[in-house]
Formats: sequence, structure tokens, C-alpha cells
Amino acid sequence: MVNNNFETDGIQAILNLKKKKNAILLAHYYQESAIQDIADFVGDSLALAQWAAKTDADIIVLCGVNFMGETAKILSPQKRVFVPDWDAGCSLADSCPADKFKEFIDKYPDYTVISYVNTTAAVKTLTDVVVTSTNARPIVESFPPETKIIFGPDKNLGNYINSVTGRNMVLWDGACHVHERFSLEKIVELKKAYPDAVVLAHPECKTVILKIADFVGSTSALLNYSIQSPVKTFIVATESGILHEMKEKNPDKIFIPAPPNDSTCACNECHFMKLNTMEKLYNCLKDETPEIFVDEEVIRKAVKPIHRMLELSEKLGL
Ligand code: 13P
Ligand code: SF4
Repeated sequence: MVNNNFETDGIQAILNLKKKKNAILLAHYYQESAIQDIADFVGDSLALAQWAAKTDADIIVLCGVNFMGETAKILSPQKRVFVPDWDAGCSLADSCPADKFKEFIDKYPDYTVISYVNTTAAVKTLTDVVVTSTNARPIVESFPPETKIIFGPDKNLGNYINSVTGRNMVLWDGACHVHERFSLEKIVELKKAYPDAVVLAHPECKTVILKIADFVGSTSALLNYSIQSPVKTFIVATESGILHEMKEKNPDKIFIPAPPNDSTCACNECHFMKLNTMEKLYNCLKDETPEIFVDEEVIRKAVKPIHRMLELSEKLGL
């Protein structure tokens, strides 16, 4: 069902261009609803990387943020990859400049470097294995307990994995500006108003939020939990775009976005993700810009830790 105000003609024009150019539209769960509805595939960052690696389309339009486009390009360098808005960045990736990260890891020469996928391609070249929020914990656990690990750039996800695995990974001090701003007080108030509600939280949230959450998981893990749980009401502490798919899959359940602490708005959006619009998607397919380019040498190095992640994920059944 397509449900925003982009003209029906515009939607048809996107579908026509997509067919004519043999393009595939991959969308993250944080995209606006209309983009999710028109996409060939909607998923979390792991699933988008898996699709980018296997598609036989000539063009990938990655409706998400730039690091997702870069990952698709690194995995499929022979394909042309576009992201509808060039400025769709990521505060977490920005919190970890490659030169500073190199100085940091150089202080720990015998450590294995595990980096979250929310990083630039340059940071991935300094990495032994990439992870996403879906596979971070099992991939960390796949290393022997005595392995010395640096984890970056998300300190909240790193702290969470340390707490549930008993590891002592050295953490880079980065965070996502969206997930860091959930309000504990407002979630507690919502819990009082909806005592039967279950709190779902993404591991990029601060530790205080994760401590009061009933379930912590990646975007797709939260979605699956909402489908499998007999509970009827959920307070969702992640970017509010995921509520679209949660409501589609669970029409009889109630989903309440957890509010941020610094605004009067009830939900918490990633303004980078929301830069992509249906109009920009149409223009991007029509004009074939903005295109993602990654230096060949960077691709050669960055693809190794991403392939390692995909292989480990397959082995782990993810
Ligand atoms: P997922 O790995 O859950 O898709 O999260 C990506 C992201 O950017 C979270 O903010
Ligand atoms: Fe980056 Fe946070 Fe936006 Fe995800 S929600 S893309 S981590 S800024």
C-alpha cells in the first residue's frame, strides 16, 4: 500500500524507470513509509548488505544513508549505486574519523578490530571484521574469550555486548545522536500509562534505557519480537520509521514510539534517513545521481572484513 502524497503518476514513473534501468530499490526500515512501500526489499543494515551482495540488477538505489550505499558499492563494485540524497550521512559514522581511529587502534597492536557497519569505507579498511546490530553479539562470541578486541564506534552497543558476554572490549567513544536522546523519564511515564506495555530498545540506546527495556535487539530483531510476542502494546525505543512495518505486520497491536528528551515531538526520527523522499528517489533514478563512488584500493581492503561478516553470519544462521 502506498500512502504518502506523492502523485500516483510519480509512483508509476518510479516503477517504470526501475524496470527500464534494471534497478533494484533497497530500503532501510527507517525510511519514510512511502519509500518502504515502493521498495523491492526493506530490511535492516545486515539484510541490505546481503541483498546488495546477491542482486543481479544493474543499478542499486539504496534508500538509507551513505555508509549503506558505500557497503553496497564495496560488495558489488561492478554495479552503479545511488542514494537519493547525498547528505544522508550518519552521526555514528561521523563520530569516528579514520585518521583518529587509526591512532586509537595503533595503541593496541595485538587487538582484533571489530567495527560496526555504521562507519565510513576508510574505517572498514582498518577493521578485521565488520558487524551489524543483528550479528554483533554472536560474532563477538565466536572469538575465543581471551581474544583482545577493540570495538567501534558505538560505545552503547559495545557496552551492551560487554555486559551480556562478560567480555572486556576496548571501546571507541562514539554514539548515534538519535538513539542517545531517548528520555528515561518519558518512557517511565508511558509505562505508568500503559502498564502492560513491553519496552523494546535498540542496543544503540544508552545503558539506562537498555536496563529498563524488556527486550533489546536490532531493528529486525525488534520487529520479529513484536510479531512473535502475545503482548498487545509496545513502547519502541528506536527510530520511529520501524513502526510502519511493525503496524503492517501486527494490525491488531499498539505501537508507541519512545519520545526523545529534547523536543515536544512524541517520536524520534533520524533526520539523515528522512532526507530521502519519493521525489528525490524519482529524480535519482531519472538523472542517475547522486552516485556512490569508492576508491578501488579502498574497496579491495574494505571488502575483506565485510565478507568475513557475511560468511560468519551465514555460518551462524543469521
Ligand atoms: P540496524 O542494524 O538495526 O539496521 O541499525 C542501523 C542503524 O543505523 C541504527 O541506527
Ligand atoms: Fe546513523 Fe543513528 Fe541515523 Fe542510524 S539512526 S543512520 S546510527 S544517525
